[in-house]
Amino acid sequence: MHDDRWDAVDAYTTGLLQPADPALEAALKDSAVLPNIAVSAPQGQFLHLLARTISARRILEIGTLGGYSAIWMGRALPEGGRLISLELDERRAEVARRNIARAGLDGNVEVRVGPALDSLAQLRADQAEAFDLVFIDADKRNAPEYFSNAVDLSHPGSLIVVDNVVRQGKLIETQSNDPDTDGMRRLIEQMGADRRITPAVIQTVGVKGWDGFALALVLES
Ligand SMILES: C[S@@+](CC[C@H](N)C(=O)[O-])C[C@H]1O[C@@H](n2cnc3c(N)ncnc32)[C@H](O)[C@@H]1O
Repeated sequence: MHDDRWDAVDAYTTGLLQPADPALEAALKDSAVLPNIAVSAPQGQFLHLLARTISARRILEIGTLGGYSAIWMGRALPEGGRLISLELDERRAEVARRNIARAGLDGNVEVRVGPALDSLAQLRADQAEAFDLVFIDADKRNAPEYFSNAVDLSHPGSLIVVDNVVRQGKLIETQSNDPDTDGMRRLIEQMGADRRITPAVIQTVGVKGWDGFALALVLES
């Protein structure tokens, strides 16, 4: 399902709200060899705004791809802030590292390669300082496990954002035969039952079609 007006509205608003940005444009150009699954420009700007709203100093991203969303969020960091982004694929991580360096963020943004569940276990074993913002945007079937880890690696007041929960409305299909949709269904059920967070889901449309974000404010970790 798609409506050309969704694209036109994205183009209209980004034309007015996002000045030319050579680093982001180059990141998208160099990511053209990768699947076209990064967040859209308005979504990147939204993540940037969220990070600034909560004065995030430590950000965790699960799912790097070419580093587009990492650049948006990395730019929200204050001096000395840090973003760790987890990516399974070494080749994608290399593209991301180049894009991040060109954006001048290599001092603040680190890409770690490996299955995210392993990288998260390592962060927990290292007793990593709590993250203020976690953005979950990797394989959808593992979203519930990523979310549990995100809460554990957070502090009261942290914000967790999960992308692609609505999946063109497939979220409401009880028998989807799609492990990614099932992952998102389990995630929303889990969020509804987790007394350590306050949840919300918001649907979105735009150049990425019909989808949505789940958000959680961490009350207790
Ligand atoms: C939707 S893309 C991320 C897009 C990126 N956040 C952006 O908006 O620019 C998802 C990424 O997660 C990675 N991924 C998939 N399974 C993973 C896993 N088990 N561990 C870590 N990364 C994984 C994929 O290789 C892919 O690059």
